[in-house]
Amino acid sequence: VKGPRRTGVRVGLVGSAFMGRAHSFAWANVASVFGEVSRPELVAVCSRDRGRAAELAGRYGWGESEEDWRRLVERADIDLIDVCTPGALHKEISVAALQAGKHVLCEKPLANGLTEAVAMVAAAQEAWEAVGAQAVVGFNVRRFPAIRLAKDVLSGAGTLRHVRASYLQDWLVDPEFPMTWRLDRSQAGSGALGDLASHLIDLAQYITGQQIFEVSSLMQTFVAQRHVAAASSGLSATSGADLGHVTVDDAVAFVSRFADGPVGAFEATRFATGHRNSLRIEVNADDATVGFDIERPNELVVYRPDGGLEGFRCVNVTEGAHAYMQAWWPPGHVLGWDHSFIHQARDLLIGIVEGEKVRPDFADGLQVQRVLDAVERSARAKQWQTVQESEPSYGNHVLND
Ligand SMILES: NC(=O)c1ccc[n+]([C@@H]2O[C@H](COP(=O)([O-])OP(=O)(O)OC[C@H]3O[C@@H](n4cnc5c(N)ncnc54)[C@H](O)[C@@H]3O)[C@@H](O)[C@H]2O)c1
Repeated sequence: VKGPRRTGVRVGLVGSAFMGRAHSFAWANVASVFGEVSRPELVAVCSRDRGRAAELAGRYGWGESEEDWRRLVERADIDLIDVCTPGALHKEISVAALQAGKHVLCEKPLANGLTEAVAMVAAAQEAWEAVGAQAVVGFNVRRFPAIRLAKDVLSGAGTLRHVRASYLQDWLVDPEFPMTWRLDRSQAGSGALGDLASHLIDLAQYITGQQIFEVSSLMQTFVAQRHVAAASSGLSATSGADLGHVTVDDAVAFVSRFADGPVGAFEATRFATGHRNSLRIEVNADDATVGFDIERPNELVVYRPDGGLEGFRCVNVTEGAHAYMQAWWPPGHVLGWDHSFIHQARDLLIGIVEGEKVRPDFADGLQVQRVLDAVERSARAKQWQTVQESEPSYGNHVLND
């Protein structure tokens, strides 16, 4: 017996490399895992490199490939634009899509600077009021079941005292590694700060339910010149002949105060030899500690007073009672990094059908952007800075000056 045909959301994807693949994987699989969502229609994928867009289309089932993202935004048969490009394009594509009445999923960080992020939130607000368009920012780490459990544990664990978070990578240790868009401020906005610490800031604010309101930071660029990449994708690249100036930070460290009292210590770097992709966060409350490491994504380390049986225990977050797990496999059958993108697609598709605003939305992305801005101001001034609800104070300055 055939059931009624439910119409899936029609998706257009911009960007066909690292995140383009991760998001394609999610759109292609979300309805197979989560029976409550209709299968999205993979209408078209766009990339500057038409060949790569066509290759991705063939692999994941996108109907068409395009070279110009504007063609996607203009199409009446696309409901949602998924922005997987470098930060320099986030605002232009997102605002155009929202003004065309489309839902938007935009990769993190929301923008390359505060002014752009403020404009994106204004466009999102208008589109929400006019047509109920979703505007979601791709902080996928929120969607690990272990992170949901961490938030639950902390909600009944007394006063929060410490947030300790680091995001360590090592793909820039080799000075011969070429200069990609990620090392160019005009393309990426900032370096380890916007790319890596933005995840930490969002996670910390999400898990604690508190906003960061002041910061004291340092930023460092260790290798100032590199050969410009001839080709790149994600964190891989091949070198060209020309030398270019690195205009972003290689590493950043900052301390912070949160609204209701906890203190934070954050570090993000691309020079932590041996650490390929180590995102760790630990929160200490008076009655519990929780710890998460993205390289062990199914585990949450928990400490709670327990009548003489205290100690750090490692909880395998794979029970049906844990977030998202009902739809997956029997307990103990573990998930990976890519599943967080499927969860992101699921939450967004459900929000679209139910008309409920999906978080983190562009306003959440803007709050993170305000913290990024304060961190930059602090590094430059060598002083504490408040996270302000104001326009940015920085222009295209060179770091370490
Ligand atoms: N959520 C995460 O964990 C995560 C991880 C990596 C990257 N990101 C974010 O995703 C975004 C993309 O990063 P990436 O690693 O996929 O980069 P990438 O270099 O692998 O891919 C960038 C893509 O953008 C396309 N592009 C660039 N200019 C374009 C244009 N004018 N028109 C159409 N397409 C264009 C390129 O062709 C390429 O396909 C960034 O904002 C980054 O911060 C998020």
